[in-house]
Amino acid sequence: MTAELATIIDFIRYGASRFSAAGLTFGHSHDNPIDEATHLVLASLHLPPDLPPAYGAGRLTIEERERVLALIERRIGERLPVAYLVGETWFAGLKFKSDRRALVPRSPIAELIESGFAPWLDGRTVERALDMCTGSGCIGIAMAEYNPAWQVDIADVSDEALSLARENIAFQHVEDRVEAVKSDLFGGLQGRRYDLIVSNPPYVTEDEYAALPGEYVHEPKLGLTSGEDGLDLCLRMLDEAAQHLSEDGLLIVEVGESEHALAALLPEVPFVWVEFKVGAMGVFVLERRDLLEHAAVIRAAAAARRGKQV
Ligand SMILES: C[S@@+](CC[C@H](N)C(=O)[O-])C[C@H]1O[C@@H](n2cnc3c(N)ncnc32)[C@H](O)[C@@H]1O
Repeated sequence: MTAELATIIDFIRYGASRFSAAGLTFGHSHDNPIDEATHLVLASLHLPPDLPPAYGAGRLTIEERERVLALIERRIGERLPVAYLVGETWFAGLKFKSDRRALVPRSPIAELIESGFAPWLDGRTVERALDMCTGSGCIGIAMAEYNPAWQVDIADVSDEALSLARENIAFQHVEDRVEAVKSDLFGGLQGRRYDLIVSNPPYVTEDEYAALPGEYVHEPKLGLTSGEDGLDLCLRMLDEAAQHLSEDGLLIVEVGESEHALAALLPEVPFVWVEFKVGAMGVFVLERRDLLEHAAVIRAAAAARRGKQV
C-alpha cells in the first residue's frame, strides 16, 4: 500500500493521516499533525523547514522511503517526540540538537528573545545574562545569538542536559560568549551577578505529571516536576535570585499552569504576567527591587517548602 507513496508531499500527507488516526498528542514542537509530519519528513531527508513548495513534488529514493516510513511507525508505536526521532528541532528560529538528555525546546520565552525582550528591557543595559535550568541550552544560546554583546551563562544540575547544552553551544558557534555551568540552582554560581536572569524551570505538578500523554515519559522527569504543586524550585529561585542580580536586574521565569498557585501563595508580590501573541503563558517578570521588598514573605514560603522536603 505504501508503495503508492512517492513524493515529499505524499509522505507528509501520509504521516499526518497516520498521526491523526492514531490519536497522537502534539505539543513538543508543533500543535497539529501536518506540522509534525512535515518536521519528521523534512528533517529525516536533511532538508530545511522552509523548503520551497516546488520541491514537495520531489520523489524519495527507496532507501529514503524506508527510513521515513520507519520513523512514522516509531512516532506512533513508541510515542517518541519528533525532535528526539530526528535529533533536532527549532527554537527562536535557530536549529538545536535534541535528544532524551533534555526536554524538547518549546518555551514561549522564544517570543521574548525574538522581540528583544520588549518592553521589559527598554532603557536597561545587559552585559551578563543567565539562563537558569537550561536543559538543551536553547534559551541561553538563543539569547547570545540575538544579542552579540551579551555574555551568557547557562546552568543546569543535570550532567546529561549540560552535555547536550555544550554540544549546542558548539553547534551554534557561541563558545566565546556562552559558558555552561553545572549548578544546583545558584549553588555553582557564587559571586556571579547578572543584569537578566531567564528561567524555564520544572513546574509540572505531580497530578499533572501522572496525567501526561505518553510522549512526555521520554523526557527527563527532573526537567518537568518540582514538588507536589510544581513550585519548589521556583520558590527557591525567588528566594536566591536577588543576590545574583545587578541593581536594576530583571528576573523572568516561566511557571505555566502553576501561575495561579504561585499568585495565590504570594499575593503581595507584584508578579507581572507577560502577554504573548497567543495570550498568557504563565511567564512572569520581576525586578530585583521587588524581590528585595518582599524578601521576607518569599523566604518564609521557600523555607516552608524546604521543611516539607526533609
Ligand atoms: C523545563 S526544563 C527546561 C529546559 C530548557 N530551559 C528549555 O526551555 O527547554 C528544566 C531544566 O531544569 C533542570 N533542573 C532541575 N532541577 C534543577 C536544579 N535544582 N538546579 C538547576 N537545574 C535544575 C532540569 O535538569 C531541566 O533541564
